[in-house]
Amino acid sequence: MAYLLGIDVGTSSAKAVLMRESGDVVAIAAPEYAFATPRPLWAESDPDDWWQATVQAIRELFEVSGVDAGEIAGVGLTGQMHGLVLLDGSGEVLRPCIMWNDQRTAVQCAALTDRVGEAEVLRLTGNPILPGFTAPKIIWVRENEPEVYSRVAHVLLPKDTIRFRLSGEFFTDVSDASGMSLLDVQRRRWSPEMLGACEIPAAWMPEVTESPVASTKVSAEAARLTGLLEGTPIIAGGGDQAAQAVGCGIVKEGILSATLGTSGVVFAHSDEYRVEPDGRLHAFCHAVPGKWHLMGVMLSAAGSFQWFRNNLGGEEMAVAKASGRDAYDLLTASAESVSAGSEGLIFLPYLSGERTPHPDPNARGVFFGLSLRHTRAHMTRAVLEGVTYGLRDTIELMRGLGISTSEVVASGGGARSVFWRQLLADVFESRIVTVNATEGAAFGAAVLAGVGSGVYPDVEQACARVIVETGREDPGAEASVYTDYYPGYRALYPALAEQFAALAEVVERHV
Ligand code: XUL
Repeated sequence: MAYLLGIDVGTSSAKAVLMRESGDVVAIAAPEYAFATPRPLWAESDPDDWWQATVQAIRELFEVSGVDAGEIAGVGLTGQMHGLVLLDGSGEVLRPCIMWNDQRTAVQCAALTDRVGEAEVLRLTGNPILPGFTAPKIIWVRENEPEVYSRVAHVLLPKDTIRFRLSGEFFTDVSDASGMSLLDVQRRRWSPEMLGACEIPAAWMPEVTESPVASTKVSAEAARLTGLLEGTPIIAGGGDQAAQAVGCGIVKEGILSATLGTSGVVFAHSDEYRVEPDGRLHAFCHAVPGKWHLMGVMLSAAGSFQWFRNNLGGEEMAVAKASGRDAYDLLTASAESVSAGSEGLIFLPYLSGERTPHPDPNARGVFFGLSLRHTRAHMTRAVLEGVTYGLRDTIELMRGLGISTSEVVASGGGARSVFWRQLLADVFESRIVTVNATEGAAFGAAVLAGVGSGVYPDVEQACARVIVETGREDPGAEASVYTDYYPGYRALYPALAEQFAALAEVVERHV
């Protein structure tokens, strides 16, 4: 029986998963790294940290599992999307990666959109140009760091930087490339029009392939460093959301996923290329060849809960440390002691600005409706409810396109909580399902590796073989409470949008 290796070059760790072709995970390693926020709205990460962590993770997998490198049929790559990595002609990284959650490029997005025309951008790329996407970051570097820009020879996404270190070659895949504002998403190839409008030479771009394709092989040097066998196929892989969806079995119409990671994502498979008329949902290529997906991304989902734990959950963190329990579990238990709707306290989860449905880098977190009755437990519950209302915004956009939302597969760290899964069921008014694949995008990348190396015939059959349902939650009695509160949540952003912009200007002057 063959083994498959999936690697997820994530926001805060490089996660490697080794699985048998049956889908059983035999070992996981996830060495962590930090990212920097050198200025408000900025988020940067060092690609060399990713590489060191990847090498360490692969070596750990071999140590823990005792698997022989010759038994690994293929390596699949996935990672944080949209990040800009620039290399010079000798393959050296020119500056830190400008990450997916970096929001510095509002000016460049507006100028590029003006130049190409809003409708034309949507026609060419399926999406508006958003500050997190890659093309405006390249323009930002040209305008702000001309010395760096003058040395650029290659533009890469995070996972493809690791592919370059593993193989010495430049490739990407259609699902990850969809988030750059440079891909013709309908035709699944670079858009000459967008490259032209951005004045980006086509020669800087890696070759783009479908996801389950063996694009390169492990080099002798990478084999020496990682313990992998030289010549092991490296599969193109996918952006983390497409790979995550593969790992959850979202490879046919009629089933959605909701992922509660740092970011929060609602994802729908689509057999056809379709675009939300106002571009409020991302329309990207799927990791299933010839298919697409629609997706809404909120920037701070479980990330909001993490912020709350770190800044207001000191008590729970201390108890957790002393008792060996989990601070998130303790906080969730306190949230459960409060009634649904948090007695009118509403949280807006826009801690890093927002993408779907309000593409606004200036949006900020808000507690609305505080009264003397409210305690920290109410605030905790309001955070979980606010994030879930934010995901419902995407569910509503999908309903507007006629997509069935009756069943949603929940995944990501936040979905480990039964309470949060029930909240999803109640707020979405959908059945929430969990599956065996808990290792997220890295697991999906391993599945893609199996297809690309010929272990499975195609992505659909691979999913049918390795993914099984493990649990379900149906909407309960509290659903009607959220139906009453949700319109209030929805009304808050439009009421505050101008104030967010004004506040951002003042902050810019003083920070
Ligand atoms: C997807 C997105 C995030 C990042 C980080 O569009 O921005 O999911 O890929 O995980």
